[in-house]
Amino acid sequence: MSNPSKAVCVCARVCVCARVREREREREREREVYDTESSVGKMQQLGDSEPRRSRVLIVGSSGYMGKQLALASLREGHPTFLLLRPEAAARNPNKTQSFLSLRRAGARFLKASLDDFCSLVNTLKKVDVVVSAMAEDQLLEQLKLIKAMKEAGNIKRFLPSEYGMDADKFLDCPPPTGDVFVCKRKIRRSIEDAHIPFTYVSANCLAGWFLSGLGQMGRFMPPEENVMIYGDGNQKVIWVREEDVAAYAIKTIDDDRTTNKTVYIRPQLNILSQNEVVQLWEKIQGRTLKKQFIQEQSWVERLKESMSTEEKYVMGFFHLIFFQGKTYNIDIGEDALEASSIYPDHQYETVEEYLSLLSESSL
Ligand SMILES: NC(=O)c1ccc[n+]([C@@H]2O[C@H](COP(=O)([O-])OP(=O)(O)OC[C@H]3O[C@@H](n4cnc5c(N)ncnc54)[C@H](OP(=O)(O)O)[C@@H]3O)[C@@H](O)[C@H]2O)c1
Repeated sequence: MSNPSKAVCVCARVCVCARVREREREREREREVYDTESSVGKMQQLGDSEPRRSRVLIVGSSGYMGKQLALASLREGHPTFLLLRPEAAARNPNKTQSFLSLRRAGARFLKASLDDFCSLVNTLKKVDVVVSAMAEDQLLEQLKLIKAMKEAGNIKRFLPSEYGMDADKFLDCPPPTGDVFVCKRKIRRSIEDAHIPFTYVSANCLAGWFLSGLGQMGRFMPPEENVMIYGDGNQKVIWVREEDVAAYAIKTIDDDRTTNKTVYIRPQLNILSQNEVVQLWEKIQGRTLKKQFIQEQSWVERLKESMSTEEKYVMGFFHLIFFQGKTYNIDIGEDALEASSIYPDHQYETVEEYLSLLSESSL
């Protein structure tokens, strides 16, 4: 029979050793956060015996879409790097928290500034693919990124910050809403001029922005009593969950079919009118909402009268999407690449599933 006190002693030593090893691993992880050169080296060594996955740099990873794109890239097994702007992070605890949660999920930092051309070029040389999710008011900052990518010469795919409606289909959209399309087109043309291989991802209505409030402007949970219906509520709208947008976007980066193409995310089950969405919600909740119909003309008048540019900007999008049906009613051509068709293995979340989850939160 074994000696119990010896067993306890061995056990304690094993625990201490495990704790020491864990602490060492923690320190190593902390060192890597700041030692980006060595982390890239390590990634490359790890990949030597395995099929090499593209190394992906996410720009804007602390943002709404950027975080999802970074997580999707990690899920697909890509060595994933985050462009870290230390000064921006230092001013915002949310950013620090967001960076660290991505770090814990396996992402690495690469320190660089869009305003420091040399550091940016050196950073870009360490990756294969750049996925941008820059904020809407910072879209033209991507021109600096494009210039640096051209200089670096090694980027095999660039996804600019898009994830909305296809900017090339809205040439006549007036400002201020049209301004974002102008910027996105400007970025597209400069990518093409620089001969950087690209994919443009058109994602239509992100669920968190549009579906969560059943299409109510400025509301991100379903209304309790009254719902505003735009026009007759029958225009088809395309609704997509952010995680699905990110998953599809990341799938395009190593897919030759999507080089220099626009990929449209139009999941069949998620093409629903506002009326259909409201009906689904009512079915899930087991009660009826009071409808307030608003006619297009009065929306346009309200838009003209609205005081702030920001409100005009958002109202312009609602006009395009809900009154004119312009997520669905655009000609994308017969040969267009549609994400859920080219990646049928990805199980996207349906509008009904999304609303069912929201319903649980309102019980
Ligand atoms: N279809 C839809 O329903 C919908 C809804 C929302 C957004 N979008 C689109 O999604 C894209 C991303 O928008 P978002 O809402 O996710 O953006 P966001 O959260 O507002 O910001 C994204 C990131 O931009 C980065 N950034 C800002 N200023 C910068 C600078 N000077 N230099 C470098 N980086 C800077 C920041 O990232 P770091 O601090 O990490 O560098 C920030 O976290 C946009 O193209 C937008 O049009 C679509």
